[in-house]
Amino acid sequence: MPTLVYLIISLINFNTFAHKCRIVRHGDQTTAYCTRLKLNDVPTGLPLSISGLDLSYNQISIIKNNAFESFSNLTTLTMDFNNIDTIDGYAFQGLKKLRWLSMKHNHLNICSTIFDIVLKTLLRLQHLDIRYNINKTLDISKPMVYPYFGNHSFLTDLYMDIVQNPVFNLSGFEKLSNINTIKFAKCYLKQMSNVTLIDLPSTITSIYFHDCFGSISIVEADFLKPFQLLQKLNMDRVALQLGDALQLLYPFKNKRMTSIIFKDIRPQVQKPVFISRIMINYLTHICVKP
Ligand SMILES: *[C@@H]1O[C@H](CO)[C@@H](O)[C@H](O)[C@H]1NC(C)=O
Ligand SMILES: *[C@@H]1O[C@H](CO)[C@@H](O)[C@H](O)[C@H]1NC(C)=O
Ligand SMILES: *[C@@H]1O[C@H](CO)[C@@H](O)[C@H](O)[C@H]1NC(C)=O
Ligand SMILES: *[C@@H]1O[C@H](CO)[C@@H](O)[C@H](O)[C@H]1NC(C)=O
Ligand SMILES: *[C@@H]1O[C@H](CO)[C@@H](O)[C@H](O)[C@H]1NC(C)=O
Repeated sequence: MPTLVYLIISLINFNTFAHKCRIVRHGDQTTAYCTRLKLNDVPTGLPLSISGLDLSYNQISIIKNNAFESFSNLTTLTMDFNNIDTIDGYAFQGLKKLRWLSMKHNHLNICSTIFDIVLKTLLRLQHLDIRYNINKTLDISKPMVYPYFGNHSFLTDLYMDIVQNPVFNLSGFEKLSNINTIKFAKCYLKQMSNVTLIDLPSTITSIYFHDCFGSISIVEADFLKPFQLLQKLNMDRVALQLGDALQLLYPFKNKRMTSIIFKDIRPQVQKPVFISRIMINYLTHICVKP
């Protein structure tokens, strides 16, 4: 009898760990955690019913067509910190329920035409994180056309890198009504002009700029004017004069905002800060950490 129990236990263990992933059931949701396993590919032998799959911290470099096809109930897919530099157009074919996709810290060219095709199949997407993919080896100074997001009507959160000359006028943002949060990191902007973000959706209530290391020489007061509903502004490690950063608040005077965070605003050249009058009513949280 103990032998049988042992056999059953080892069978269960075998089933659960054959692919070395940790399978966690939570109510009717099953998630496979396959992080830090030196994987080069999507593991085989996972339960097909999983709704979550975490492949972060592996060595995946290519995602081939239909790689996730059998996981038709997947709602959450995370592939942060891999080496993904090649992704086939139909890599995410069949993921009709995918709501959350995170691929930060890879080597994807998010402005390539193939990436447009990749996104096409993910029409239920609510949260897309493709930050820290563009690095300096790409020629970031030439204008780069961002993907088309106009068909992603459920999108609420979009996190991505911003290049020196971003072109957003072909991204279909005017068609999106649910998007409320944009995070930019890394950020290669050299200027924050009145027209830089003019094609971004006016529904944005939270905007983040993280890791803008190239010094930003031109700063115009209406940079954030497209976002008349803005509640939260967060700038962290941005190469700006603090005075210039404060000037960006100009479009929100006499408006209701909840949080403004300037952290590690570190200009290349120091100049004295002169705060005249910030007239933002109902501000509950302002935090300036040099
Ligand atoms: C996906 O979920 C549906 C509804 O819960 C279920 O009928 C179907 O068998 C599931 N598919 C897989 C591959 O597990
Ligand atoms: C930069 O990206 C390219 C491809 O996009 C990649 O081959 C290279 O390894 C990356 N370099 C660094 C330092 O991440
Ligand atoms: C967006 O949807 C329209 C209508 O379904 C389709 O014709 C078009 O090809 C789609 N574009 C992209 C880039 O997904
Ligand atoms: C989009 O912006 C680019 C660069 O700013 C410009 O050259 C182009 O004419 C614009 N296209 C449309 C359709 O507005
Ligand atoms: C940008 O907007 C500010 C505030 O409305 C205005 O003073 C400035 O002249 C504008 N800059 C340009 C280049 O249009």
